[in-house]
Amino acid sequence: MKIFVTGGTGYIGSHTCVELLNAGYEIVVIDNFSNSKPEVIEKIKEITEKDFKFYEGDVCDKELLKKIFTENNIDAVIHFAGYKAVGESVSKPLKYYRNNIDSTLTLLETMNEFNCKKLVFSSSATVYGKPKSLPIKEDFDLSTTNPYGSTKLMIEDILRDLYISDNEWSIAILRYFNPIGAHKSGLIGENPNDIPNNLMPYIVKVANKELECLNVFGNDYDTHDGTGVRDYIHVVDLSLGHIKAIEYILNSKGIDEYNLGTGNGYSVLDLVKTFMKVNDVEVKYKITDRRPGDIDACYADASKAQEILGWKAKLGIEDMCRDAYNFIKKNK
Ligand code: NAD
Ligand code: UFG
Repeated sequence: MKIFVTGGTGYIGSHTCVELLNAGYEIVVIDNFSNSKPEVIEKIKEITEKDFKFYEGDVCDKELLKKIFTENNIDAVIHFAGYKAVGESVSKPLKYYRNNIDSTLTLLETMNEFNCKKLVFSSSATVYGKPKSLPIKEDFDLSTTNPYGSTKLMIEDILRDLYISDNEWSIAILRYFNPIGAHKSGLIGENPNDIPNNLMPYIVKVANKELECLNVFGNDYDTHDGTGVRDYIHVVDLSLGHIKAIEYILNSKGIDEYNLGTGNGYSVLDLVKTFMKVNDVEVKYKITDRRPGDIDACYADASKAQEILGWKAKLGIEDMCRDAYNFIKKNK
C-alpha cells in the first residue's frame, strides 16, 4: 500500500512517516520546507532504515500533484501540510486561508481526478471553540476563535460536503489535542526557529538556557491550580493513531471525526513540574497575564477512536517530558 504524505517533514508528519514505514507501508512525501528542514528526510531514513520518494514543492501546485499521482500509484493520502500558528493567523489571515484552503482544494481535486478517494485529515481540537462541558466529544458544537481554527473548520465542512456528493470517499478527520514530545531516538522532534508560541517548546528552550524564563499565562483559571489545563498527547501515540486511521479507511467508505487525545488534563504547572522532575533540570517561570483567547481547560473523550479505530494513547506525561528534552539536548 502506498500512502502520500503532505507536510511529511513537519513535526507530526515526520513521526507519522516513521510509523508508516515501520508498519510496512510505502510512502511518498511532499513538503515545501516552509516550516521544516530537509535534514528530516535523512533522519526518517536513519530511524527506519527504509527509503522513500520525496518531492520538494507546494501542495497548492496542481501540476506537481498531477505528476506525483501519475508517477506513483497512490492508495491513500494523509494531509498534514498547512500553517498552524494561531497568533500569526490573526495578523496574517489571508496567508492562512490561502495556504490551508488552497492546498486542500488542490489536493482533493487531484485525488478526484486520479480516483484516489481515501484521506486522513489533520484537524484540531480548536474546532470546539469554548466547549460547553468536559471531556469533549466529537458531536459537540463547532466554532472557532481565530483564522487558523476557521481554516480547519472550513476544511472539515468541505470534506463533509464532498462525501455527501460522492459516497465513494473514505475520510477520517482527526482532531488532535496538544501533541508534544519526540521520537525516542532524539533524531526528530519539534524545534521552532522563532520564539515558540506553544508551551512545551518554550519549556524546553528555558531548560536549555536558550530563553530565560517561561511566562505562565494566568493562574486565575477555573482549574485545580489556576493555570490552563490541556490534553497533552505524545506525538508518537498521535502518529500511531494515523496508522489505525489509514487501516480503517482503506477498508471502508464514509466520513467520520475522531478525537486524538489521552483524555487526561494537565495544567501548565503540572507540566513544568513534571518536566523538571523527570529531567532533573530547572525551568524558571513567572506568572503573567492571561493570553487573549485561551480557555480554562480542554481535554478529550477519546473513546470513539478506541471503539472504532482500535487506538488508545499509551505514553504518559513523563514520557512526553523526557523525550522532548532528549530531542533538544541532541540537537543543540
Ligand atoms: P508543521 O508546521 O511542523 O508541519 C507542517 C508541514 O507542512 C511543514 O513541514 C511545512 O513545511 C509543510 N507545509 C506547509 N504548507 C505547505 C504547502 N502548501 N505545501 C507543502 N508543504 C507545506 O506542523 P505540525 O505540528 O506537524 O502539524 C501538522 C498538521 O497538524 C497541520 O495541518 C496542523 O494544523 C495540524 N495540527 C497541529 C497541531 C499541533 O499542535 N502541532 C494541533 C492540531 C492540528
Ligand atoms: N502557555 C503558557 N505559556 C506559554 C505558552 C502557553 O502559560 O508560553 C499556556 C497556555 O495559556 C495554555 C497552555 O499553556 O493554557 C497550552 O498552550 P499551547 O499554546 O501550548 O496550546 P493551546 O492549547 O493554546 O493550542 C494548541 C495549538 C492549537 C490547537 C490546540 C488544540 O497551538 O493550534 O493546541 O489542539 F488548536
